[in-house]
Amino acid sequence: MAPYRNVVVGTDGSPTATAAVTAAAELASASGARLTVVTAFAPHPAQTARAMEEAPEEIKWRITESGQADEKAGEACRLARELGVKDVRARSEPGDPAEALIGVAEDTGGDVIVVGSKGMTGAARFVLGSVPNKVSHHAPCDVLIVNTVH
Ligand SMILES: Nc1ncnc2c1ncn2[C@@H]1O[C@H](COP(=O)(O)OP(=O)(O)OP(=O)(O)O)[C@@H](O)[C@H]1O
Ligand SMILES: [Mg+2]
Repeated sequence: MAPYRNVVVGTDGSPTATAAVTAAAELASASGARLTVVTAFAPHPAQTARAMEEAPEEIKWRITESGQADEKAGEACRLARELGVKDVRARSEPGDPAEALIGVAEDTGGDVIVVGSKGMTGAARFVLGSVPNKVSHHAPCDVLIVNTVH
């Protein structure tokens, strides 16, 4: 099998997603691939968006979903660099996480999407979270589902 050149990983900042980021970083590091870290966030409704415009610039990014997504993706990028990945990029994307992962894989020529089996909100009785479930049905490339339930 040809080595992966472009690895895409999703994180919601949860400890289980961090296990997926670690696996993705080890995979990317071993094959000298680029790693793109994706954090999707729920876009604000129009009314909240207007109120946000009035918040002072220096705190705005902290309280927005988008700013928090940037932080989570950035944190995962730092971890990936520590694990030896040279080319790491962060993407925070509004909207559905599975669609964001697939969109970024299409944009960046991703050849594998890495996700955890469970994130932070799922009920324990379900084996697979909604994100790996949807990604596995629609991905344009390979999918690695890291078992985060031990
Ligand atoms: N907002 C997100 N952005 C990017 N990737 C995500 C996001 N949320 C989850 N993921 C990816 O999907 C994996 C599984 O999380 P998922 O959200 O599917 O499970 P869950 O939270 O347990 O269940 P559900 O959200 O379906 O109730 C995570 O480990 C992560 O890799
Ligand atoms: Mg979730």
